[in-house]
Amino acid sequence: MDSSHVEHDLVNILFTEAQIQERLGQMAEAITADYEGKDLLMVGVLRGAVMVMADLSRAMPRHLDMDWMAISSYGSGTKSSGVVRILKDLDTDITGRNVLVVDEIIDTGLTLSWLVNSLGSRGPASIEIATLLRKPEAMAMPVEPKYVGWDIPNEFVVGYGLDYREEYRNLRDIGTLAPHVYS
Ligand code: PRP
Repeated sequence: MDSSHVEHDLVNILFTEAQIQERLGQMAEAITADYEGKDLLMVGVLRGAVMVMADLSRAMPRHLDMDWMAISSYGSGTKSSGVVRILKDLDTDITGRNVLVVDEIIDTGLTLSWLVNSLGSRGPASIEIATLLRKPEAMAMPVEPKYVGWDIPNEFVVGYGLDYREEYRNLRDIGTLAPHVYS
């Protein structure tokens, strides 16, 4: 491997590709059981949720629909500004649907608490959240995901959809970046 390989910037791998797939398989089993006999609309939050959506949905041997939303969290400011805006809305009418919002991480909780509120006002039959990662220490808004892959410490992680300045989303593992990346 040459030194420009993207994985060389990881200093500590938290979850390998195999661990991620195994955990998603367990989550898929739970979701499949819970939604037996019900319709299921999975809503992915662009862009980070693309990988989770792809693997979680394919781990479920059932009919399901997928749709996507793009949200501008916090504009160009910081997370604490609290400004959330829809950049791309759903193409689907969710009235009477069982909605499962899929994301790769809940950090402060601002994005998903706002999103669940917003979608909740459209009259879905139910609305739940599946997230691969959650940072309990960073939580500022109350969000209660029904399906959580892992709780992690409050540190910056990349890979498997998670970015640093839009890079590293394509890593198969999840880890922390080496200090030289930031300098
Ligand atoms: C990430 C992630 C969540 C949100 C979580 O998205 O996908 O949607 O942040 O943070 P919060 O709990 O503090 O609101 P981001 O805004 O980085 O966009 P991206 O998915 O395009 O990377």
